[in-house]
Amino acid sequence: MTSEDLRHHGDRDTAPGMLDFAVNVWLPAPPRWLRDRLAAAIDRLATYPSDVDDLAAREAVAARHGRGPDEVLVLNGSAEGFALLPNLRPRLAAIVHPQFTEPEVALRTAGVPVRRVMLSGDYVLRPELVPDEADMVVIGNPTNPTSVTHPAALIRRLARPGRIVVVDEAFMDAIPGEPESLSGDPRVLVFRSLTKTWALAGLRAGYALGAPEVLARLAVDRPQWPVGSLVLEAVSVCCSPGAVAESTEMARKALADKDDFVTALTAAGIEIVVGPTAPFVLVRVPDGRRLREALRDRKIAVRRGETFPGLTVDHIRLAVRPQAETTRLLEAWRDYGR
Ligand SMILES: Cc1ncc(COP(=O)(O)O)c(C=O)c1O
Repeated sequence: MTSEDLRHHGDRDTAPGMLDFAVNVWLPAPPRWLRDRLAAAIDRLATYPSDVDDLAAREAVAARHGRGPDEVLVLNGSAEGFALLPNLRPRLAAIVHPQFTEPEVALRTAGVPVRRVMLSGDYVLRPELVPDEADMVVIGNPTNPTSVTHPAALIRRLARPGRIVVVDEAFMDAIPGEPESLSGDPRVLVFRSLTKTWALAGLRAGYALGAPEVLARLAVDRPQWPVGSLVLEAVSVCCSPGAVAESTEMARKALADKDDFVTALTAAGIEIVVGPTAPFVLVRVPDGRRLREALRDRKIAVRRGETFPGLTVDHIRLAVRPQAETTRLLEAWRDYGR
């Protein structure tokens, strides 16, 4: 059974005081050095965000990804990038599912015809399923909720003159070295997020990488001062070489934790839908709704699957968490099974 709700996200499955396996933000709060930089930037809030601040942020992003500053657009979270997609005036958008649902919401709301490309089995992209006539293709990499990373070469096969390929790389910095990232490829439009790694969900900070003319069309109706100074500051500092090195270390640790999590889930007899590559795992359980409610009664939140196109109430997404929290989850799961 499916019960799609494209506007449902993991934050609605959790609540204060719950043990949270539903939301994929790793740290409980931004690290000290980042808080200090943001706190210092508060002193400058009496002035409007300047072109100099904007350029500094774009230069930091450009240096991090080997691009030029004119190939960068700072966003209020990557979610803003999806909201701007209709400005590119696609005639037919192909959306590769299951994936994060905001791109489809934005395009449909603007009246853009949308064709869903449904993946199943190993959930790896099959380029031949994408309709030739689509002049926009949207894909997540790594993909939320399947935790599959598509080979960059496969995504590149979607590129062609007259078509914009949009790659949501919100979770790419969770993969050490980012081997499948297309952030350096001028032929695609990439959206990146600072939310997950740096615990900045409430700030709304991200950016787009793409050809300057595509970015100009994307941003055509944004207001004056589209992003605040704190967002610009966060983007500058999180793209510095030191921050990138720290995030790579965090990604390595998360990868090891993910492998331990998979081992523990497998030992508990829980079906993992597909081998995860990112620090969240999609599982399938009999009577998923009953399990989710039983866990919720024990103050444990998990992300329901059925709101994603192609998934059902028996699919559940679990964020990788520290060992002690995993132990609590598995104990509660075992109690429920008794
Ligand atoms: C795959 C994916 N892309 C993008 C976003 C939105 O990210 P941001 O906070 O940068 O808007 C999310 C948030 O959950 C997500 O899961």
